[in-house]
Amino acid sequence: MSYNLLKGKKGIIFGALNELSIAWKVAERAVEEGAEIVLTNTAISLRMGDINTLAERCNAPVIAADATNVEELEALVDKAMEHFGGKIDFVLHSVGMSPNVRKNIPYQELNYDFLGKTLDISAISFHKVMQVLYRKNAVNDWGSIVALTYMAAQRTFVGYNDMADAKALLESIARSYGAIYGRDHKVRVNTISQSPTYTTAGKGISGMSGMLDFAEAMSPLGNADAEDCANYCITLFSDLTRKVTMQNLYHDGGFSSMGLSEAVYHSFLKGAE
Ligand SMILES: NC(=O)c1ccc[n+]([C@@H]2O[C@H](COP(=O)([O-])OP(=O)(O)OC[C@H]3O[C@@H](n4cnc5c(N)ncnc54)[C@H](O)[C@@H]3O)[C@@H](O)[C@H]2O)c1
Repeated sequence: MSYNLLKGKKGIIFGALNELSIAWKVAERAVEEGAEIVLTNTAISLRMGDINTLAERCNAPVIAADATNVEELEALVDKAMEHFGGKIDFVLHSVGMSPNVRKNIPYQELNYDFLGKTLDISAISFHKVMQVLYRKNAVNDWGSIVALTYMAAQRTFVGYNDMADAKALLESIARSYGAIYGRDHKVRVNTISQSPTYTTAGKGISGMSGMLDFAEAMSPLGNADAEDCANYCITLFSDLTRKVTMQNLYHDGGFSSMGLSEAVYHSFLKGAE
């Protein structure tokens, strides 16, 4: 169902790899709500993933850019503005990767070169994206920039490894840049802290299915899925949330406020029998 919430708006969406990607759902919903979009991902993800199917569906150009590479980001923003014939209204940063997680290196044994990559790809890239947009004055007043994060930034979750550190930095960058972008250009910057979600990145986290089941059992509303997340992103891109900025917004069915649910309590008791 469309409410035309993004009618006339233009946005760049990072991170749609395949149909499971949260960014994929956001792209589809944004177009349904009347937006025009540009899709971007790394050159290798463009080759390995299914983004062209999405591009066709959304009538959107695909522009390759590594989110850690400032020159590539500059070219992306220039091309996107050329395509739109003007400035951008919203940006989704849906980017994350940890070589330590990929190689199953436990947190106490982190490889520091890999840690540097994790932080660059999953957090500092958000600063780079905003710095390029800011320098080029590429975002319209009252524009909206959103990055996706996870609650392991606040609390420790087994298996989330150095991605927890990256998410803490990502959320801090959202606040720090949000203060400047809001003051200078009325652009808002927020992070959405999403439930565990079954995607390619999600599957990489060890014990993901247990994490999903645990979060489901803990959350009064159940886990938020990728479609739910897309809907929430749309509200943040819309004009209905113009004064929301520098926030880390939990989108997790209530998980983040729970201590112990009946479902988890009873399954724990059962296990102890
Ligand atoms: N899946 C979950 O459980 C979950 C929960 C909370 C937050 N998130 C966050 O949501 C975001 C999207 O992840 P997803 O779950 O949709 O998985 P996904 O694997 O579909 O998306 C991750 C994307 O990051 C892209 N990427 C990796 N390195 C990049 C780089 N250098 N430059 C540009 N793009 C790069 C990948 O190509 C991919 O498209 C991530 O930030 C992730 O941490 C995911």
